[in-house]
Amino acid sequence: MQQETILVLDFGGQYNQLIARRVRECNVYAVVRPCSVSLSEIKEMNPKGIILTGGPESVYKENALLYDKELFELNIPVLGICYGSQLMAHILGGRVEPAETSEYGHTEVKISDSSSKLFEGVSENTICWMSHTDRVTALPQNFKVTASTKNCPVAAFENAEKKLYATQFHPEVMHTVEGAKMIANFARKICKTGGNWQMDTFAKDEIARLKTKIGDGKVLCALSGGVDSSVAAALLSKAVGKQLTCVFVDHGLLRKNEGDEVEAVFGAGGDFDLNFIRVNAKDRFYAKLKGVTEPEKKRKIIGEEFIRVFEEEAKKIGAVDFLAQGTIYPDVIESGLGKSAVIKSHHNVGGLPDFVDFKEIVEPLRLLFKDEVRKVGRELGLSEKLVERQPFPGPGLGIRIIGEVTEEKIKIVQDADAIYREELEKAGANKNIGQYFAALTNMRSVGVMGDGRTYDYAIALRAVVTSDFMTAEAAKLPWEVLAKVTTRIVNEVKGVNRVFYDCTGKPPGTIEFE
Ligand code: XMP
Repeated sequence: MQQETILVLDFGGQYNQLIARRVRECNVYAVVRPCSVSLSEIKEMNPKGIILTGGPESVYKENALLYDKELFELNIPVLGICYGSQLMAHILGGRVEPAETSEYGHTEVKISDSSSKLFEGVSENTICWMSHTDRVTALPQNFKVTASTKNCPVAAFENAEKKLYATQFHPEVMHTVEGAKMIANFARKICKTGGNWQMDTFAKDEIARLKTKIGDGKVLCALSGGVDSSVAAALLSKAVGKQLTCVFVDHGLLRKNEGDEVEAVFGAGGDFDLNFIRVNAKDRFYAKLKGVTEPEKKRKIIGEEFIRVFEEEAKKIGAVDFLAQGTIYPDVIESGLGKSAVIKSHHNVGGLPDFVDFKEIVEPLRLLFKDEVRKVGRELGLSEKLVERQPFPGPGLGIRIIGEVTEEKIKIVQDADAIYREELEKAGANKNIGQYFAALTNMRSVGVMGDGRTYDYAIALRAVVTSDFMTAEAAKLPWEVLAKVTTRIVNEVKGVNRVFYDCTGKPPGTIEFE
């Protein structure tokens, strides 16, 4: 049976992924496609509904991104949001002009037509998120206004008979208080979907699909212990068991106990019936990193060495039919759809070898967002600790130690980081924090401990609030927690006499130190 799908047609707005997220929260599958996708492809896709996104342009400008009028004649419900609403008006014969007063931010919207299916159950006066400089000033024929604001008489309009709906505001963002209800009304009621997109069905279906696809072939998976590759490995293991080999390269730059934790889950006696190879390669990584201080050089060395180790293991295993990757949906979108495989592998594991003799790449998670991947992980019985792991860079602690990487420094940063994470989690101060870790500055300073002089390292603590890791703010951690972490680190971690908290955002900083 074909998966019921809502197509999100991307006109370059900022919140397009968010629209797909909101639709999926209604248990309806959503895909984002660029607005260059052809009408015949859309027909083939046979979506249950189409959402036109916002975008930075003006519909009346030369070279504006437009679409074939026939899109509105497919008898498929369409919801236009912001630019999408202006596009609908413009193409169907209405008028769009620059607004006398631009509206940005929280705006009170009055729902003027309570019979609108889009606004079923929504309060008559409701707060919505506006962000526009153009507005619809004349409606196409047979459309009616369904909502307005003080400065925008046409804040929403529709032609219910033709199943065409439009909002000037953004129902997909959290600031639109009843936006989720509006999206649900569209995705479930107007598009008449059954709401079958669920993670338990996904896992079951995907396992069956993988079984058919792989047959009795051999699969190789580079397992980092991160959420994506772990969940991909778990799915594959359920599908093809021992035909799967996971190669886990322990480069000695992992967090404290991390290598053993990954092995406990995926290795012999663990939760999965698969071939697991842990390569303890720390000595070769440390040797290559000796004396190297330049960040980019360190990254390159770690990435390259990773490839070498992986290649050697792949060669030992012999003819592999499939290479598995934990590519997820944002990776697919960010890299312009369908071209993600290479980018992701480079980004995640420092690059996968070209030579591996495989027929195809399998990416069982390429339709999912991160939180959906986590749900599947839980569904498959992965521990909460594994499923909730924060992102960890491929080069590991190598880029959290400023300057030369030595075994002594790795031990220091591992111990400090473990204390920091433990205390933050114990105090519940890690909620809503995207990433938190300790790094070792290359700075040594004078201190006094037990009446004696010390000349030791300084640890930097980092915690950032971020939704996409592209920009971030330093988290406002409770002082008591920072004080406790500081005391514990200087008392328990030999070689440290000072602790700093990094208050820098991104930009101008980055999340990692190198
Ligand atoms: P920055 O430091 O660029 O980090 O602000 C943004 C996010 O990316 C992660 N990161 C990496 N992830 N390989 C990865 O898989 C890498 O080489 C890498 N470098 C940074 C970082 O942890 C943060 O989540």
